[in-house]
Amino acid sequence: MASTESGIPVEPVYGPGDLTEWDPQVQLGVPGDFPYTRGIYPNMYTGRPWTMRQYAGFGTATESNARYRQLIAGGGTGLSVAFDLPTQMGHDSDAPLAHGEVGKVGVAVDSLDDMRTLFDGIPLDRVSTSMTINAPAALLLLLYQLVAEEQGITGAQLTGTIQNDVLKEYIARGTYIFPPGPSLRLTADTFRYCRAEIPRWNTISISGYHMAEAGASPAQEVAFTLADGIAYVRTALAAGMAVDEFAPRLSFFFVARTTLLEEVAKFRAARRIWARVMREEFGARDPKSMMLRFHTQTAGVQLTAQQPELNLVRVAVQALAAVLGGTQSLHTNSFDEAIALPTEKSARLALRTQQVLAHETDVTHTVDPFAGSYAVERMTDELEAAALGLMRRVEERGGAVAAIEAGFQKAEIERNAYRIARETDSGERVVVGVNRFALEREEPYEPLRVDPAIEERQCAALARLRAERDGAAVTAALAALREAAAGTANVLYPMKEALRARATVGEVCGALREVWGTYEPTGSTC
Ligand code: 3HC
Repeated sequence: MASTESGIPVEPVYGPGDLTEWDPQVQLGVPGDFPYTRGIYPNMYTGRPWTMRQYAGFGTATESNARYRQLIAGGGTGLSVAFDLPTQMGHDSDAPLAHGEVGKVGVAVDSLDDMRTLFDGIPLDRVSTSMTINAPAALLLLLYQLVAEEQGITGAQLTGTIQNDVLKEYIARGTYIFPPGPSLRLTADTFRYCRAEIPRWNTISISGYHMAEAGASPAQEVAFTLADGIAYVRTALAAGMAVDEFAPRLSFFFVARTTLLEEVAKFRAARRIWARVMREEFGARDPKSMMLRFHTQTAGVQLTAQQPELNLVRVAVQALAAVLGGTQSLHTNSFDEAIALPTEKSARLALRTQQVLAHETDVTHTVDPFAGSYAVERMTDELEAAALGLMRRVEERGGAVAAIEAGFQKAEIERNAYRIARETDSGERVVVGVNRFALEREEPYEPLRVDPAIEERQCAALARLRAERDGAAVTAALAALREAAAGTANVLYPMKEALRARATVGEVCGALREVWGTYEPTGSTC
């Protein structure tokens, strides 16, 4: 018998007998109402389509700015910034550790000067921007706010999201800086700062995507992501915030795989679990606190370097799963992403894929069209049960942070990744163009390459900045930041002053490293 990616058996036929314990009033409800199985808005895409938000950024701020303008001109409805690894790790482009990585997987941002260039000519009061940045998320948000202020735009007008999800960095992605304790303190400071200063900002994007890319099954992806979500809620509550003060601005981020039916079930199950956790465990009263709002990216790990045009087909199916699952925002991968950074043409094709789904198909005409499907409702229930079971195992280990420290989630994900690799190697799992229907000779493909001179240009700009700025003001601002970090005051206020004085990302993170130390991963004890 076939089984789902989560290892749940799939029946050849489903019927009424599969839903005997299923009560549409309890499990389903109506769209826009608890438990939000059918979606968070009553009218969903009939009222407003999802945000088409293509993750992009490479080289210097100038090149990335040009790509953002192209995406907006081409009909993209939100921005999504990719930062290079040095920025993600809180190092300047001229740091020894940055060498060879500047501008490679995203844009290099060292200071307010780069951020100003990155958003030049982009009206920040009219576009919502997501920034994939975690350990230094607060810094990049403040730089964004400073640029907006220069454009005459207030914090109240800004909309967007910072990823800011350090817990999954320890589990799957790896761009952590500080140990969990100070990282979570910074998260709580950011929640509080945003509530006061940038109230429409989504303060975190609690991410299962990277766990899935590392090999997590759909059930693991949901369970470990929501368990991280619970850890953030507990952190904010412990810092003295009331649940309805911060929970409406928590957001999530999941993958969409080619296994369309299970993915639709996954999104529906995740919404239901979160709504119940927030209402029943944390006593949320504001419906917005119970709504699981999420971004989706199509599964990069399922793309192949062989016959790369096949990826266009995979991405269309994956994107359809996200839309049928009720996503709020979507990134469709470019077909050449398994090979290199997307070219301008492939990035456009990826966006066009979303536009075909939104404007040529009928899936946006009615809300949650799978509701009542014997197969999908049964899968939704089963996925919910599987995820809840895993969430209990996290709780038994003392919650997400303790489980991370014991290496639990990582070990579980690695076990599943090994299973997938074994099935692929044996041919039991078909990957078209790779282990079946392969070509004898692949056609050559010329990918986009990042100019190695970018690093030199970025370092020269940093040298100029350090020579021009008021060094004494920077030193004083960094000292004030260190003092706040050592005490209990919200660090974002002195951080903003340091960045305004043109302290660099590396200097600000360096000051925090001095006070908070850095994280050293431990091996699994599971
Ligand atoms: N009825 C009423 N209102 C509606 C509506 C409807 N049908 N549809 C939308 N709206 C409203 C919303 O309420 C919202 O208003 P608000 O700001 O006042 O709350 C507004 O319209 C915008 O709609 P959404 O919130 O639905 O959509 P957004 O796009 O603004 O936000 C999000 C979506 C998921 C909440 C947000 O967090 C987001 O955009 N996330 C993106 C994350 C992202 O792009 N990440 C990239 C990761 S790449 C990565 O990690 C790199 C690598 O390692 C893979």
